[in-house]
Amino acid sequence: MAPEHALLDLQPTPARILAEVVDGLSQSPRRLPSKYFYDAEGSRLFELITRQPEYTLTRTELALLETVLPEIARAVGPALQVVEYGSGSGRKTELLLAGLEDVAAYTPVEISRSALEASVERLRAQFPDIGMLPVLADFTRAIDLPAPARPARDVLVFFPGSTLGNFTHAQSVGLLAGMRALLGSNGHALVGFDLDKDPRLIEAAYNDAAGVTAAFTLNLLRRLNREIGSDFDLDGFAHRAVYAGERMRIETSLVSLRQQRVHIGGQRFDFADGDAIAVEISQKYTRGSVAGLASEAGLRLSGWWTDADHGFALGLLAPD
Ligand code: AVJ
Repeated sequence: MAPEHALLDLQPTPARILAEVVDGLSQSPRRLPSKYFYDAEGSRLFELITRQPEYTLTRTELALLETVLPEIARAVGPALQVVEYGSGSGRKTELLLAGLEDVAAYTPVEISRSALEASVERLRAQFPDIGMLPVLADFTRAIDLPAPARPARDVLVFFPGSTLGNFTHAQSVGLLAGMRALLGSNGHALVGFDLDKDPRLIEAAYNDAAGVTAAFTLNLLRRLNREIGSDFDLDGFAHRAVYAGERMRIETSLVSLRQQRVHIGGQRFDFADGDAIAVEISQKYTRGSVAGLASEAGLRLSGWWTDADHGFALGLLAPD
């Protein structure tokens, strides 16, 4: 068992990243895993996205959380181990840890070492009575929770940001089922969902005028070049994000701007002008689609809150 305050390091190795990249680019359509967006630079660019005027998700969720937290705190009860999937900058986390009653421990599960270390360091100073038990890992894989020194009454999984939307339906069910396994019979998961709305608003959020989202998408290639020795030409690909209304999701790709060849791990990948690599989906939801998704993972919707414009929702999920 990991000692309290130690960082449990389960970061993916370059060999694993390489294998996933080669596998993804060998499929049709070609794809790259969006979880690798979040190196130090990617995490910095994502923070910048959340401050763009078009990207309202984060501000809306934060304001919503602030408003409904007393209700959520009553619903989930005291003395919890709060497990967060992804740690981000920790602004929502601060609110949550301060608004819940007598939190026993906080376990962020995060793939970016820099993001994890920065958020834990800050939270530790701010919440000296909460055991900090970070896990550096890919939360799509099974997680063994480190046990807090002060036993918790129950687990609350916190998965804000509509990050669930970056996963396919099947992956989302798998992720929720993984959460379900951490909850025992009385735990809860508090999950953020960006709601379906005017497609023009949704598309604008992923095509900000300042070009931050485009830089964020392209940074994936820079990271791969550095970590697995690929030779993507960053000027040879462009960011494209389109709302597929029939699937209720943003589909982001990197489009080849000319005919070109990329070398990765001893293999060659040829691109024609206009060839696309699918890099990210951002699913949008309705209350009904969330309830359906939850039920497939053995969970039910026990609470649902939205902002006044119905742009974003917080759902409380409980074991069925
Ligand atoms: C990480 C899910 C909050 O899909 O909206 C933002 C990531 N990608 N702009 C999202 C993202 C491009 C974001 N979340």
